[in-house]
Amino acid sequence: MAFILLFAGFETTVNLIGNGVLALLRHPGELARLREAVVAGDEGLLASGVEELLRFDGPVELATWRFAAEPLSLGGVRIGRGDPVLVVLAAADRDPERFRDPDRLDVGRGDGGHLGYGHGIHYCVGAPLARVEARVALGVLLRRLGGLRLGVDVGELRWRGGLIMRGLRSLPVRFAPEQVTERQ
Ligand code: HEM
Repeated sequence: MAFILLFAGFETTVNLIGNGVLALLRHPGELARLREAVVAGDEGLLASGVEELLRFDGPVELATWRFAAEPLSLGGVRIGRGDPVLVVLAAADRDPERFRDPDRLDVGRGDGGHLGYGHGIHYCVGAPLARVEARVALGVLLRRLGGLRLGVDVGELRWRGGLIMRGLRSLPVRFAPEQVTERQ
């Protein structure tokens, strides 16, 4: 648990911010919408935007391992007692039966219910902290860097390997200093 607190408390939020900023840069309409709201002090859209970014391309792809307490059948697959079950959160969060138009980024979606922080007894204990961190980071970034854009072609971006954590090796960006709108 101590290891998870350290590892999960840092890498996850770093990658939520990185993946989230990339998603916004690839959807300039949503980026402009969120920036407008942030500059106008609309914390509501920022909060729903962070949840949407987590649903759309969150940093944790798999839930904690589960083991079936009793035999069951799920989606046509038989699972025996004690069998491990790996839930792919990233797939659940793009489920068209749960989310309308799931591959569309909509910072105002606001229907919650994503599985980015898991579910049930192992639901992420750091979720409230991660939400605050992401809102602060994105809010400051959007307010300060008006001309934010990708510094390389999308095809040049490199993702880190690994099954559990999804994140970029780096996210080069450019911005125009004269468009800095606020200093904090
Ligand atoms: C965007 C940031 C984060 C995401 C997406 C995230 C996601 C998750 C997920 C998916 C799980 C497994 C839940 C399950 O299997 O049902 C988890 C568990 C956990 N997370 Fe996070 N997490 C984040 C940030 C943090 C932070 C900041 C901390 C601590 C400071 C933290 C501490 C933990 C711990 C201790 C667990 C294990 C809980 C348990 O097994 O009972 N996480 N997290």
